[in-house]
Amino acid sequence: MSEKSKPIIFSGIQPTGIPTLGSFLGAIKHWERLSSEYTCLYCVVDMHSITVRQNPAELRANGREMLAWLIALGLDPGKNILYYQSQVSAHAELAWILNCFTYMGELNRMTQFKEKSSKHAENINAGLYTYPVLMAADILLFQTNLVPIGDDQKQHLELCRDVAGRFNNIYGEIFAMPEPYIAPVGARIMGLQTPENKMSKSEENVNDTIFLSDAPDVIIRKFKRAVTDSGNQIRVSPEKPGINNLLAIYSCVTGKTLAECESEFAGQGYGHFKTAVGEAVSEMLKPYQQEQSRLIADASYLDKIAAEGAAKAHELAAPTLAKVKAAVGFNTTL
Ligand code: TRP
Repeated sequence: MSEKSKPIIFSGIQPTGIPTLGSFLGAIKHWERLSSEYTCLYCVVDMHSITVRQNPAELRANGREMLAWLIALGLDPGKNILYYQSQVSAHAELAWILNCFTYMGELNRMTQFKEKSSKHAENINAGLYTYPVLMAADILLFQTNLVPIGDDQKQHLELCRDVAGRFNNIYGEIFAMPEPYIAPVGARIMGLQTPENKMSKSEENVNDTIFLSDAPDVIIRKFKRAVTDSGNQIRVSPEKPGINNLLAIYSCVTGKTLAECESEFAGQGYGHFKTAVGEAVSEMLKPYQQEQSRLIADASYLDKIAAEGAAKAHELAAPTLAKVKAAVGFNTTL
């Protein structure tokens, strides 16, 4: 398939925080093999991050950390377009235009805005409010066909589709209509303390989440503390969300089926099982952690990758941005 005819996948990754075991096993791990069938763009969305006040040095460092993680986790920069959002001005340009095609009524309904504004009551800025419009611009700039997203971003993708449809209705078929990308395998990893909820970067309870940078002793301690139930059987059951989650993690990490995992631990206690899962996870993560540390020590390499990615993204975005500008009536030299 030629580069041009491949469908486009776009994902935006917030540079705040370290990726979690949940986002690795459930999403990022499966992105590596997409590059043969799709043109894949993975954008570190630093412009989204400043909707919440950031320390500049930390934001810069976190962006590099995230880029290094994406590469370490298998996204080959030769096969994927990896870049910082702030280095491709087309994002901001399209976002402004789309702001003028998005209704306040639509933004008022966004549940993430409501949540974030109650959390950051001292800084409910306009950027936080129009965040979904920037996200729509990210996606629509590239004629994106598929967007890998979690449940928390579905509403934003719906809004993006509404705005794209509205724009296309007025000006003709300018934007491709993006669809959510549902990974054919992606595991849904739950919190270790709250196995009813997806594992997230929750600031409230660090024991709920395995961060990919966690040291082996930290990982094992968190697994030892994982919530289970009062029974003693290690098997998949609707009444055992904690055990189900640990079995799912162990199965993902070892490649064994759930049934194989169940029989491996049959008759053993929860304590032993939890330690074994922790050890398996920390062993699995070790090479990725080493690679990430190696990459982060080479800032000039990371900056070069980001610059090359930004140049490619700029080139891919240019025709769509030019069409949009012409459509709305801006003077153009084209
Ligand atoms: N809003 C997304 C999140 O918080 C990040 C994001 C920004 C994104 N732009 C995007 C995700 C475009 C998918 C596509 O996770």
